[in-house]
Amino acid sequence: MSMGQGYFISFEGLDGAGKTTQMELLAGWLQRQGMEYIRTCEPGGTPLGVEIRRLLFQQPELTITPLAEAFLFQADRAQHFQTRILPALAEGKVVLSDRCFDSSIAYQGAAQGLGTDLITQLSRIATQGHAPDLTIFLDLDPALVHKRTSALDSGRQEQSRFDRASEQFHTRLRQAFLALAQAEPQRIKVIDATQSVERIHQHIVELIRPRLNQSQGAI
Ligand code: TYD
Repeated sequence: MSMGQGYFISFEGLDGAGKTTQMELLAGWLQRQGMEYIRTCEPGGTPLGVEIRRLLFQQPELTITPLAEAFLFQADRAQHFQTRILPALAEGKVVLSDRCFDSSIAYQGAAQGLGTDLITQLSRIATQGHAPDLTIFLDLDPALVHKRTSALDSGRQEQSRFDRASEQFHTRLRQAFLALAQAEPQRIKVIDATQSVERIHQHIVELIRPRLNQSQGAI
């Protein structure tokens, strides 16, 4: 369910699939169209979220159970929806979010084994029943993910809990995202992330242009 006149786009993908680059390119495109947008992320899209992100990723000595971890992601999300996403949509803005609840369903629900039904229910509470209008899933073979993330890791401060997870973990993740896309083909679009950066960007613009036309009549 979308809100107001705004338009909500989330980006999903295995770590290293190229979400950041594509979000940057899309933000530039939106700007050139004269559209108002915000760029945000989960976890970490609010001041509370930054603290939650720190707890999750920068305190390796801290033991966090899988269920507690799932609630931390949902707490981040509850704050994010209430204080950032829903107000921006109500103001008619485009919201670009680096991840949303599909990540929780895939990572905590499927790959970590808490169950996709449970995580879907928790997500509904955290989002107050809202969902992105469009979700771009940048699809990458887990064997390639391993190559890309180990190349990125060398220059990076923050270590994702899952970056070093097994190829099997990433395979479960990918299957979970693909199952979500199959269940909601209107909302979740799968894009082959092995294509060139420019080709992927074009594909995303082709998906978004008619939808923004419909929702805003602006371009
Ligand atoms: P992100 O900031 O997108 O980093 P990356 O560049 O590694 O993709 O996400 C951080 C990590 O948090 C990523 O490994 C996915 C994970 N995550 C979950 O496990 N559950 C969630 O609900 C979200 C939003 C992210």
